[in-house]
Amino acid sequence: MENIDWKCLPFGYLKTDFNIRCVYKNGKWGKMEVSTSEYIDIHIAATGLHYGQEAFEGLKAYMGKDGKIRLFRWEENAKRMISSAFGIMMAPVPSEMFKEALLKVIELNRKYVPPYGSGATLYIRPVLYGSGAEVGVKPASEYTFIVFVTPVGPYFKGGIKPVNMMICRDYDRAAPMGTGIYKVGGNYAASLRAIESGHHGGYANIIFLDSRERKYIDECGPANFFGIKNNTYITPKSESILNSITNMSLLDIARNMGMKTERRQVPIEELSSFIEAGACGTAAVISPIAKIFDPENSKVYEYCKNGEPGADTLKLYNKLVSIQNGDEPDPFGWVTIVD
Ligand SMILES: Cc1ncc(COP(=O)(O)O)c(C=O)c1O
Repeated sequence: MENIDWKCLPFGYLKTDFNIRCVYKNGKWGKMEVSTSEYIDIHIAATGLHYGQEAFEGLKAYMGKDGKIRLFRWEENAKRMISSAFGIMMAPVPSEMFKEALLKVIELNRKYVPPYGSGATLYIRPVLYGSGAEVGVKPASEYTFIVFVTPVGPYFKGGIKPVNMMICRDYDRAAPMGTGIYKVGGNYAASLRAIESGHHGGYANIIFLDSRERKYIDECGPANFFGIKNNTYITPKSESILNSITNMSLLDIARNMGMKTERRQVPIEELSSFIEAGACGTAAVISPIAKIFDPENSKVYEYCKNGEPGADTLKLYNKLVSIQNGDEPDPFGWVTIVD
């Protein structure tokens, strides 16, 4: 694409040429269709609009040095979307159909896959919502599945940069035994005020605590948390956080690099014992945490005193990004070449 400045792309929406759509009606999925429109026609009583029957996914395609496009762990996104559909009683999208839609939308928008070395990637957004009309609170009988793509710039322009975070004491993102483990829109609506209050205070993001006792770390906005000490990668186990595919991958890479790993409750006080800490997710891969501020007691937990990410964080980041880009072999079988 001659008129896209790949190096200056923001992490935002840019129109591409095609998207994929499919409708579930009368108990079965219909034919997959290609659309050139950025808009949808939606019934005024669709459950996706009124009762939050909506789930989405986010994954990326990477252009390699070899000119091949790589998709990272799409099977996990497919599984998670099935789990989200189960959580809010929507028709699930079968994995094979999910894969077919991804491959088709990438192929059709091939010219929007950013070149190798630009730092940009093709972000893929599958979305599923109740499109059938209901007025009573019940699941719809019709669902729409859409996949669109948009090229996005790197989350951090100047490379991996430590950020400051604030513990959120005023809002919960999800209730215990609620929908926090699903990637449904309602969780994100519930997090907006909290994230905005963090931004207002000058923080890159906020850290949610467990909403039952407010004693343990849950998540960092739309990313999972990890801390590192004693050659151990530690990440919260909670009944209300999204199971991050980036985090799952970092756990495997950490073990592979000879680190120990723990997935367990992480009490707030433990923040003072970590040597490194970070947030992880598809968008930024890893956001190293420089400082965490706790407004309850004005305590500050500091990690990157020299303004640079810690050594283990950097090793984990480099390894994962190299596998995603195809710069290093993929011993885990995570990458699918799009052809
Ligand atoms: C709430 C939340 N937690 C964690 C993540 C990170 O998940 P993943 O690594 O699969 O992108 C995301 C982003 O998808 C998220 O929205």
